[in-house]
Amino acid sequence: MNNFEPKITAFCCTFCAFSAADLAGSMRLQYPPNVRIVKLPCTGKVDVLYILKAFEDGADGVFVAGCLEGECHYLEGNFRARKRVEYAKMLLEEVGIEGERVEMYNLSSAMGARFAEIVEEMTAKIKELGPRGNGYRSEEECEEGKRD
Ligand code: FES
Repeated sequence: MNNFEPKITAFCCTFCAFSAADLAGSMRLQYPPNVRIVKLPCTGKVDVLYILKAFEDGADGVFVAGCLEGECHYLEGNFRARKRVEYAKMLLEEVGIEGERVEMYNLSSAMGARFAEIVEEMTAKIKELGPRGNGYRSEEECEEGKRD
């Protein structure tokens, strides 16, 4: 799948990751155009359903990017987001979709270069995993614990 271009949805906190993405743009940093950014007031707003819906809507990978640990403007939003990302990983694995397709990152608004790096990292990882399957497993595979 050499020409596979993954679709990546990024849930970004307005205070940090979204500003970092903006900074990356102002710095004219190059990063893959595969990412669609959803701006949130805090990553604590991310619900597991948002992540699953992004996959349902065709994303091959999803990442949540919040403030640095201890710097969330709503105190613990980014810790809650991390727990939800871990839970989403588990749910995806349950239905036969690789949990690595969803990740959590922490960064500050000054980290434009890091934002570009994250998009590159995620794009490379998802390219390696290939297009997302539909999570379908036959009855036999379910019994044997196999994945598609
Ligand atoms: Fe940025 Fe909460 S305000 S993660």
